[in-house]
Amino acid sequence: QFAPRVFSGIQPSGGLTLGNYLGALKRFSQMQEKGTHKCIFCMVDMHAITVWQDPAALTRSTREVAAFFIASGIDPERSILFNQSQVPEHAQLAWIFNCVARMGWMGRMTQWKDKAGKNAEQASLGLFAYPALMAADILLYHATHVPVGEDQKQHLELTRDIATKFNHDYGVDFFPITEPVIEGTATRVMSLRDGTKKMSKSDPSDMARINLADDADTIAQKFRKARTDPDPLPDDYESLSARPEAKNLVDIYAALSEQPTDKVMAEVAGMQFGTFKPRLAELAVEVLSPMSAEMRRLMQNPDEIDAILARGADRARAIATPILRRTYDIVGM
Ligand code: ADP
Ligand code: NA
Repeated sequence: QFAPRVFSGIQPSGGLTLGNYLGALKRFSQMQEKGTHKCIFCMVDMHAITVWQDPAALTRSTREVAAFFIASGIDPERSILFNQSQVPEHAQLAWIFNCVARMGWMGRMTQWKDKAGKNAEQASLGLFAYPALMAADILLYHATHVPVGEDQKQHLELTRDIATKFNHDYGVDFFPITEPVIEGTATRVMSLRDGTKKMSKSDPSDMARINLADDADTIAQKFRKARTDPDPLPDDYESLSARPEAKNLVDIYAALSEQPTDKVMAEVAGMQFGTFKPRLAELAVEVLSPMSAEMRRLMQNPDEIDAILARGADRARAIATPILRRTYDIVGM
């Protein structure tokens, strides 16, 4: 009944890391190449402003994330790439979903509890309603599949609850019950300073992450200084589970070289980190530098990015408009 469609969004809230590439963008472009699903990718600037964003930084960051999509292999002709606020139907459908979702559902979201913390009175109303907007992002395209990380699973569950309640309340079978995309070999990239924390732009230490904007020397230095234990690399992957920092570097190497971990272990068994780290850095530079060069080129041509996004928004609206119109009909508006 529903055509296979993938939707995913990234917040333009500044700073892109190797984690964003290996955990999200690389997988998105693999999905596009597989060709089984129409892929719709969105810079979700309306989500970003649920917490304060400097206006000039938001504009820049939106272009930067778009450049990241393109540089990492998303073809804006085969896939649809656009900026959320340019398709007003997202906000329109979100309002309807605000009226479908229950306060209690929203209050149970762990991300709300984490982000609002003890000071919920001072959090924006948008931060509370965020998951209803996310449901609108997905269901506005009747997306059947969404690639989600661990942190977004609960929100996708809520999207399914909203679709189910809408269908039930209005006695229709209109919105699909969206499935998470099976994670497969999704890489969770950890901090270079603490193998138990995820690599993130919000980490106060810049040495803990590889930024897409880092030059070759910086990348080499960060891997050289990455925390590890004094033992050489073992010959089996399983024994790395007690050595999170070492495991993280091996996982990054495997993801960047597109090799299964047992093959990597065969290659690095017995190696000292003094030998392994420069190899890893060299590989990272080899993969990231063409991408960051293309991002720099695009950022020097903002008109080119804006034109791609404007065209993407037109194509997104061609799908979204009839779905919203039909939703209004169902609701009686
Ligand atoms: P951050 O947590 O740094 O703010 P986002 O939440 O904006 O990053 O993440 C955007 C996308 O990148 C999401 O799909 C998320 O799962 C992925 N991602 C972010 N950091 C990592 C990481 N360290 N490892 C794997 N994937 C990541
Ligand atoms: Na984010």
